[in-house]
Amino acid sequence: MAAKLRDFLCALDALTERAPLDELLRWQRDLEVGFEELADWIRFSPTGYQRNLVREGPLYRMLVLCWATGQFSPIHDHAGSTCAVRVIRGTATETVYQQAENEVLQHTSHWIAGDVFGGSDGDIHAVGNFATDDTPLVTLHVYSPSLTRMSLYSLVDGQLVTQPTAIAATTATQVVTPTTSVARRHSVVATV
Ligand SMILES: [Fe+2]
Repeated sequence: MAAKLRDFLCALDALTERAPLDELLRWQRDLEVGFEELADWIRFSPTGYQRNLVREGPLYRMLVLCWATGQFSPIHDHAGSTCAVRVIRGTATETVYQQAENEVLQHTSHWIAGDVFGGSDGDIHAVGNFATDDTPLVTLHVYSPSLTRMSLYSLVDGQLVTQPTAIAATTATQVVTPTTSVARRHSVVATV
């Protein structure tokens, strides 16, 4: 059954424990939301993809991520958190990495508006906007609980190697004047 953004936020506010991945994915699939409803959180940065905080509670964080063409995340996992992503506009290119004995298996998917994908805990992936026609990418992310610690990886000689700067915090560091009835609007300055 289709649900509005406010219903989704109410369900997230009512969480009493970390949301399972299948549930977050289902909520994202059932969501009825358009680009216009998220306009308050559509903010791009010329220096990298921008994370814009919609709302957070004890057991979740909802963000709108804005990716200009050519912007992409590092390879990362989701240590201790579950994440479901809905594409609002543009095409998200996701590469999932899996360490095999002597090689790293990679699978790339292209997700378009309305598509939902996700992962949790030790799932390793990278996401980016590789559109060739300058189409921006906007994605709606829900993490349960908030993703505040994760490992970053690089590919070295057929191995996924954890980067020394493995822990990245995603704390909201900039508050923007609230103008929306759904929630206060924040920008999150973070690299992951
Ligand atoms: Fe991720």
